Amino acid sequence: PIPVIIDCDTGVDDALALLFAVRHPGLDLRAVTCVAGNTDVDGVVRNTLTVLEVAGAPGIPVARGAERPLIEAVRVAAHVHGQDGMGDLGLPAPARRPVDVDAVTLLRREILASPRPVTLIPTAPLTNIALLLRTHPEVTRNIERIVFMGGAVATGNATPVAEFNVWHDPEAAAILLTAEVPITMYGLDVFQRVNVQGADIRRLRASAEPGARLAGALLAHRPSAPEPDGDDPSGGLGDAGAVCAVVDPAGLTTRPLPVEVSLAPGAGRGQTIVDRRPRPGEAEIHGGAPQRRHLVDVGLDVDVERYVKLYLETVERDQDR
Ligand code: BDR
Ligand code: CA
Repeated sequence: PIPVIIDCDTGVDDALALLFAVRHPGLDLRAVTCVAGNTDVDGVVRNTLTVLEVAGAPGIPVARGAERPLIEAVRVAAHVHGQDGMGDLGLPAPARRPVDVDAVTLLRREILASPRPVTLIPTAPLTNIALLLRTHPEVTRNIERIVFMGGAVATGNATPVAEFNVWHDPEAAAILLTAEVPITMYGLDVFQRVNVQGADIRRLRASAEPGARLAGALLAHRPSAPEPDGDDPSGGLGDAGAVCAVVDPAGLTTRPLPVEVSLAPGAGRGQTIVDRRPRPGEAEIHGGAPQRRHLVDVGLDVDVERYVKLYLETVERDQDR
């Protein structure tokens, strides 16, 4: 299996991502690290521990990370994820506590200890990852790839141009995007398309498997953007799609492109500017001599049916298999 670490802000769709990652036989989820985003970091830790317990995976180490972005204040998304950050489903408090070390320390330890290079899957503001890359740059030698949910080629969600995870901590995203490791951007353009139909959600909700039942309840809380379809709304897989892209990269069409984060204050802050010109960088009209620019594999298209099928088959598998 592929060794992976998820850095999340659980978060309704982060929970969907965790439920998938613990059940997929091709993944070895080695740790989960938490960061402020959809809710405050203590809420994220609590939600993450609860989800792992419901999923029957209570042994995976969970660490508390950054309480706030590098520069901005915390701006939680209770209007999307509920007061508790996870849909206000009334889930029980977790039985265990996070590990004694902070997220950056756990990330470093798990990455360097892994016998095979680790794939990092951030599904949240990139504060922990930026701190890791600046504090322990040696970790890049044992990182296979970073597949992050964040950014947008076209329209944003937190603002007209900025996606929430990048907007919440733009400086951290800028640090990630210049890291000398292969990076895949699973941005809003693909994120918003992978939706589970109402009939599938109803089947999940009636499942005998606690993890599948929780996935159904979470999907029911997440009517797909922009409009629920009539009386039988579908629900977005959201962050879970980024984990599907690790298991099944062929379902995501990417192109290596330069990506920059807009850091200036004002209406453009947090926008990911993706250079889609035919020969990006070769003809810098404004910038003087062309420079080698770091390329990111940007998700431009996704096989929706393939990822929905992959997700459902995985969370509905028999626990004992
Ligand atoms: C991202 O922001 C959060 O609300 C979701 O969990 C996802 O990671 C989408 O912009
Ligand atoms: Ca998230």
